[in-house]
Amino acid sequence: MGQNVNMAKQNIFTCNECGASHSKWSGQCDACNAWNSIQEDKPLSTGPAKKTLGGMRGKTIPLTDLASKEPPPPRTMSGVEELDRVLGGGLVKASALLVGGDPGIGKSTLLLQAAARFARNGLKVIYISGEESAGQIQMRAERLGLTQSPVHLASATNLRDILTTLEVEKPDLAIIDSIQTMWADNVDSAPGSVSQVRSSAHELTSFAKTNGMSVIMVGHVTKDGSIAGPRVVEHMVDTVLYFEGERGHQFRILRSVKNRFGPADEIGVFEMTGKGLAEVKNPSALFLSDRGKPAPGSVVFAGIEGTRPVLTEIQALVAPSPHSQPKRSVVGLDSGRLGMILAVLESRCGVPFTGLDVYLNVAGGMKINDPAADLAVAAALVSAREDAALPHDVVLFGEISLSGALRPVIQTENRLKEAQKLGFTSAITPQQTKKVAVAGLSLRYAQDLATFVAETFGDRGPEK
Ligand code: TYD
Ligand code: MG
Repeated sequence: MGQNVNMAKQNIFTCNECGASHSKWSGQCDACNAWNSIQEDKPLSTGPAKKTLGGMRGKTIPLTDLASKEPPPPRTMSGVEELDRVLGGGLVKASALLVGGDPGIGKSTLLLQAAARFARNGLKVIYISGEESAGQIQMRAERLGLTQSPVHLASATNLRDILTTLEVEKPDLAIIDSIQTMWADNVDSAPGSVSQVRSSAHELTSFAKTNGMSVIMVGHVTKDGSIAGPRVVEHMVDTVLYFEGERGHQFRILRSVKNRFGPADEIGVFEMTGKGLAEVKNPSALFLSDRGKPAPGSVVFAGIEGTRPVLTEIQALVAPSPHSQPKRSVVGLDSGRLGMILAVLESRCGVPFTGLDVYLNVAGGMKINDPAADLAVAAALVSAREDAALPHDVVLFGEISLSGALRPVIQTENRLKEAQKLGFTSAITPQQTKKVAVAGLSLRYAQDLATFVAETFGDRGPEK
């Protein structure tokens, strides 16, 4: 094992949030503006450094063609469709994955269930927890009905011991829960520090690559939503998945934010039950299941998540504000996006929101990144403000530009088909949208946002 090579004493300070290096300590990171995030860090042991490469010749590197002569790496399915799709079609041999998420969101449960499935499908799986004792995990396995699955279990944090064990046991898949609890004894800083996390992730990833083993590392997420420790961990691995959801909701969404072996932004939807996570094969039906009668402020958005259409209900509430600074509160959407849509409604459509509190919510705990949600959000806002409900059987999608124009969005046909499948009979989309006919669904084209607002809520007049 490589020992720490002491270079000329050189202090490096690293930001815990974004991983930027600084030559001295300061209270605020000037790369990401985070406060109190800078820590003293030891550089990775890289051997004695040479000043330049000049003069000395290296080896020549063999070059190859773009067409690969090797077969694609083998993949193993877990049999959990929602998971296999997010992985890009099963787990790739010798790949490194990072699964991030808030504490208590269900990462350990998800991975123990996945471990059991992969083990049943023939992989040798070792699950190593640095957070829970073997007894605790056995209790969880019992609750999930997994005690008969051939998963090997250990509670450990010493990375040297873990790597030695993996070398001897030669598993196909190792799950490390979590990377923040790992401790590499050649790095003299505390577990959870940037250098420990970085070094542990590096050791595990390169071990996986050289030994043909896949590794899944769990990473905790900080308050601002990024995986704690430096971004370098995300760069190191092949695939980064986030497990998200609202605490009070039973839905959980596994989202690929980076995937070298499949599409990014793919989602898998799960429901939390007493017996663990259950797959949700038709998320639209579930997200819309609580919809009551037509109500002002409630609108259905036909969205796309990864390769899959998902319908969600967007709810808005607009009320006179008792505050001098009216509230703008949003769950499940970017607040900057809400601000932009409010501004466009005010200045291009004559629908002011001054003196009004605005609350916006995506039902079911879903987080929407699709800009096509703009039109649905605007419709929900005006509908709430005018106290006028939209028809129950209509879906909307389209992007709004700052000029108040409506832009067409991708995958129109998929959105419409999903809406039709769920019993919707009409859709409102931007004028320029590709004209596709879906049986049983009538299309209304909106020329621009102002026309849409006037046509939909016109007779009630924007003045209040
Ligand atoms: P856990 O998997 O421990 O979360 P994490 O590893 O992300 O911190 O789950 C948190 C708690 O939720 C735990 O007490 C078990 C419970 N839980 C269920 O009861 N059912 C479920 O489907 C899931 C995912 C969790
Ligand atoms: Mg856990």
